[in-house]
Amino acid sequence: MIKVSPSILSADFSNLGAEAKKMQEAGATWLHIDVMDGHFVPNISFGAPVMKGIRKDFDGIFDVHLMISQPLRYIEDFVKAGADMITFHLECDDDANAVIDAIRAKGVKVGISVKPKTPAEAVKPYLDKVDMVLVMTVEPGFGGQKFMTDMMPKVSQIREWITQSGREIDLQVDGGVNAETAKTCIQAGANVLVAGSYLFSKPDYAAALKTLLLQE
Ligand code: DX5
Ligand code: ZN
Repeated sequence: MIKVSPSILSADFSNLGAEAKKMQEAGATWLHIDVMDGHFVPNISFGAPVMKGIRKDFDGIFDVHLMISQPLRYIEDFVKAGADMITFHLECDDDANAVIDAIRAKGVKVGISVKPKTPAEAVKPYLDKVDMVLVMTVEPGFGGQKFMTDMMPKVSQIREWITQSGREIDLQVDGGVNAETAKTCIQAGANVLVAGSYLFSKPDYAAALKTLLLQE
């Protein structure tokens, strides 16, 4: 089953709670929360206190994408603020196993992510201990960028390893996803689609969500 995780990064920041609520009423069961520190990526978004503020307006899955250099320092804050799943980048400064263990110890799901230049092989050693792999289909840092079709072999390779592992691991794509590129991602093996500008730019969120959900 395909899942869609709308990225709040493209929502109206003067109205985040209402935007989250509207997306949930439109049928979203996940909400993608992009945290940027201005160091790991060249942009700053928001942190745990802002996320906590949105929590009361959305009772689905909070899918937190940490684009930060030192995730270990902030795991507890994000768990306390209501994260259901925390995804961090393998390119960060911390030891990946330590971050995975710290997230797991707090009882939330764990995701690992790779930037476009990081090869599929980087995720392989961790497939026996994560719940999700996120393949970036743009350089992380900003919404509204162009989808990188050349990431699809990476998605397919990782899907093959996930199947071989016999474990239930979600395979997420993030960046430039719209009704067209969603098809390409699903064909390559992704089952969780993050979409920011495509969804939040539409007047009718429910209709926009359907164009992604009805891809199978
Ligand atoms: C980019 C973020 C994405 C972003 C996607 O660094 O991780 O989640 O919100 O935005 P779109 O869907 O507009 O490419
Ligand atoms: Zn993201």
